[in-house]
Parts: sequence; C-alpha cells; structure tokens
Amino acid sequence: MHTENISWRCPSNIAIVKYWGKKENQIPCNPSLSMTLSKSFTEVNLALSEKKSDEEIELEYFFEHRKNEAFESRIKKYLSAQKHHFSFLNKAAIRIDSSNSFPHSAGIASSASAFGAIALALFDAEKSADKHSPEFLQNVSSLARLGSGSACRSMFGAYAEWGKHPNIPNSSDFFAIPIHDVHENFQQMHDAILIVDETTKKVSSSEGHSLMNGHPFAENRFIQANERTLRLVKILQTGDFEEFIHIAESEALTLHAMMMTSANYYILMKPATLSIIEKVISFRNNKQIPVCFTLDAGPNVHLLYPETSRESVEDFIKNELIADYKNVIWDKIGTGPEKVN
Ligand code: PMV
Repeated sequence: MHTENISWRCPSNIAIVKYWGKKENQIPCNPSLSMTLSKSFTEVNLALSEKKSDEEIELEYFFEHRKNEAFESRIKKYLSAQKHHFSFLNKAAIRIDSSNSFPHSAGIASSASAFGAIALALFDAEKSADKHSPEFLQNVSSLARLGSGSACRSMFGAYAEWGKHPNIPNSSDFFAIPIHDVHENFQQMHDAILIVDETTKKVSSSEGHSLMNGHPFAENRFIQANERTLRLVKILQTGDFEEFIHIAESEALTLHAMMMTSANYYILMKPATLSIIEKVISFRNNKQIPVCFTLDAGPNVHLLYPETSRESVEDFIKNELIADYKNVIWDKIGTGPEKVN
C-alpha cells in the first residue's frame, strides 16, 4: 500500500450567539450562530499507510512537527468511536500532522478548526463518501461536532447556525447549516482578535459546559439564546447593525456572567479585557462608527466591524488600545474549509 496523503484547511469561527451548556453526545442545550473566519485556521495532513501492528487504531499525532501524546489519545478514542463510519480505520496506519496559522500561545481556542480539519480529511479518505453530495458537509459537520461542538459550524462560509430551532428550517442539533441571503452590510466583516493574555485557560470549555447543569439561570439563558438565534438570522438578512451590536455584546457578557454565577464560579476576563470593552463602547458612542466586541471562553477580545469602518476602527485599535493588548490577529469573515493539494 502506497502512503496516501490527504490535506485540509479548516478555519476557526467566532460565535455571535454562544453555545454554552451541552447534553450527552455533544448535543447543545441551545442553538448558536457564528461567523466563520479566514486567517485563523488549522491545516491537517492525514497519511494512510500499511498497518504494522494489531492495535485497534494505529495512530500517530503530530502537532507542529512534535508528537503530542495527550491529543493523540483523545483522537484515538474519537476514531475508535467512529470506526463504523470509516472502513479504512482498522486497515491502515494513520498519521496526522496538524498545524495552526496562529501562534500556539495566542490563547485562541484551536479545537474547532482542528476537529473540523480532521473530520474533513477522514470523510475525504473514505472512498465510499460522495464528496459532491449535499450531505457531505453535513456529515463532516456532524463528525466534527463529536470532537468539539463549535467545530461543526466551521464547515460553512460566512455565517452558520447550529442547534434545532422550531422556526429555522433545516436546523439540527447534530450539524450546522449555512445562513443564506446575508445582507451586504454583513458580508465583508472583520474580526480583530486582541490577545490580552496568552496563557492556556484555567477552566476547560468542557468543565464550563458542565457547570450549566443545575445552573440557577440555565433555563432562562437557553430561552434567551433561542430567541436571539432567530432574531440574529433575521438581522443578518435585513442588515441592521445596531441590533447586531446589541446581541453580540450582550451574548459575550452573558456567557461570562454564566461562568461567574455557576456553582464553581470563575472569571476569565482580565483588567485589560474590561479596559478594551469600555473604550470600544465610548469610541462607538462618540464617533457613531459601527464596531462591537465579543468574547470567547477567555480574556481575549474580538472586535467586529464592517469593511466600511475598517480604517477608523483599525486606527483606533493601533492608537488607543495599544496598551491593552499584546498582539493582534487581523482576521475577517471567510468562505469555509479548503482542500490543500
Ligand atoms: O466547542 P467547545 O466545546 O469548545 O465550546 C465552545 C464554546 C464557546 O466558544 C464559548 C461558544 C461558542 O459557541 O463557540
């Protein structure tokens, strides 16, 4: 058997309506909606060669040229649970080489782009999968979800929704769907990721999700996220920036409020996070320029703005926020995954 190499590049995404809280099998407690990025991505090469051992899954995993035992055993478990989907898994020796476009220490969650790229390579390697069928990306999205919930949204360009919603046709808890007919106001969005802290987070997102079980505000939070997801779909189609800002910022603060009010409470924001948030709000109020912040499960701040306000927002970031961040990743809306030749 010759070594077969399959490479995919999968972008990260930033949630506007946040997924926070999950049930068994990575089923989300509420729907979420994200923007797919372009410059923050993971590239994965899957190499299949002749199997040398009788191990159930013969896998070696390298992250940026170094063997990564911790991730290797996580991926082994993940592959073992998916054996029935992929006939080659117990016939070939598998080597995965993964690398990120952004520095490892940037404090950016890479599991969405990593699991997205792995799921794409796996389905691509499966000869029986019809890569041109409409179900292909849906199946990949579903598999990516099992590795990291938010990964399922990275399969589609621009904006993607994940989670069953009675008023969003075709929505599902198992895979994400693309948002169609996006208004031109939201088609050229930028995301400047201001890195304020590069250390790895002290509470994993799995732990964070589990703290929503029995959380005193969980029920209302899930109702709110349902309403906001539907509203955001409409906002993206009508182009209302003011409403978009309101949902994006409130979602970021609500996510962190959930962390701060859970039984084992914790705070991920840093003083610089708050400093940036305050400056962004007063810049917007004073200049009447559309720009807003959002947060992931960490202290770094994502600033979202349309192409039309790019120059003034980027000057503001470089001149007035410089003392608050260590580094900036100038990212923007993207078109989704790509096969690498
Ligand atoms: O995909 P996970 O399990 O790492 O969870 C991601 C959760 C948030 O990034 C905080 C929100 C989201 O919807 O992406």
